[in-house]
Amino acid sequence: MNNFNFYNPVKILFGKGKIAELSKNIPANARILMTYGGGSIHTNGVYEQVTAALKGFEVVEFGGIEPNPKYETLMKAVEVVKAEKIDFLLAVGGGSVLDGTKFIAAAALYDGESAWDIAAKQISVSKALPLGAVLTLAATGSEMNSGGVITREATQEKMAFGSPVLFPKFSVLDPQITFSLPKRQVANGIVDAYVHVMEQYLTYPVNSPVQDRFAEGILLTLIEEGPKASASETPDYANRANLMWAATMALNGLLSTGVKSDWSTHMIGHELTAFHGIDHAVTLAIVLPGVLQLMKVKRREKLLQYAFRVWNITEGSEEERIEKAIQMTETFFQEVGIATRLSNYHVGQDTIDRIVERFTSRHMRAVGAQQDVSIADVAEVLKSRL
Ligand code: NZQ
Ligand code: ZN
Repeated sequence: MNNFNFYNPVKILFGKGKIAELSKNIPANARILMTYGGGSIHTNGVYEQVTAALKGFEVVEFGGIEPNPKYETLMKAVEVVKAEKIDFLLAVGGGSVLDGTKFIAAAALYDGESAWDIAAKQISVSKALPLGAVLTLAATGSEMNSGGVITREATQEKMAFGSPVLFPKFSVLDPQITFSLPKRQVANGIVDAYVHVMEQYLTYPVNSPVQDRFAEGILLTLIEEGPKASASETPDYANRANLMWAATMALNGLLSTGVKSDWSTHMIGHELTAFHGIDHAVTLAIVLPGVLQLMKVKRREKLLQYAFRVWNITEGSEEERIEKAIQMTETFFQEVGIATRLSNYHVGQDTIDRIVERFTSRHMRAVGAQQDVSIADVAEVLKSRL
């Protein structure tokens, strides 16, 4: 088995009104930089709740962290951290604000030449400022993991980074905060969480019945709760709470313990975002069905297990059952509100060529932890999704 280390130090404050407990979780004399995105927190009452909970603390604000957070913007925050002698970061937002804040935490104490190397050269930083989070969008799992993804505008590159020192000290998860999300972002959250599970589940059997059933439990929950959230005009607390918990559990180290993970769909998806700015989850909904098709033979055993346990498919030949499971997966993405073809986003063969060229120029022979999706396969997967 690989990666049989389960460690997660993040304290989760889950439920209605939990923002009020912020002050108990931040060191008394902290000088806080409160980071946030494009302004949603100013219109849904989150800003007021957070500032009320931080009464008595020294707080400096840094807003404007964009979706798919930009390295260029984050480096401006690093300057503020240094100038204001900040010693605690509080991220208030979705995955982009949280990831961006993790990067600020690392870059502020980085003494190498360029902080971009933290992502580009995969440097596991050994020191970072402490950070906490108030999550406003359930999707990425960033609230309970130690990774992030940032984008460099100048070169159109999107890269992941991570280090054990980047786990948030705590994350506040109040499902009510997600009530103000536009439908598009609710759909994104459901699909991102779903694909996170698939990336850690749909590979090769390693006698991991506990992890497999954790994974299947999260997938079934998303299949049950996702369409309800998309169909409903009025958000329901229990529904949003279940989605939020599912998304957090989907990427906090639990599912990946002892199993063979993948991440090829994410690696391909990141390039679609880098070149076209397509929402992260949308790229996954486009790419995953193509990867599963390509893996029909190599990952046959897990696909059959998935077809039976998640989609309850019992009829037909093995080939037919697998085909049906892939089809139902894609239909599920569409049902929650995401179009699943490259042509829906006006992306054509030229982008496929650019992605292949980029992977080749990075001397990569394959993508994903199992290295079973070659660069030629990447082209084939994307072509099948035009
Ligand atoms: O910026 P504001 O104005 O806050 O608006 C945001 C943004 O426009 C809005 N939003 C967030 N909470 C809201 C809200 N609007 C109304 N009410 C609320 N309560 O939603 C928009 C999207 O936000 P963003 O943070 O970009 O979305 P998400 O949480 O999906 O994060 C996506 C980013 O996370 C990375 C992705 O690559 C992408 O950059 N990922 C991070 C991972 C991790 N750290 O482990 C793993 C993932 O696979 C993913 O790669
Ligand atoms: Zn993701």
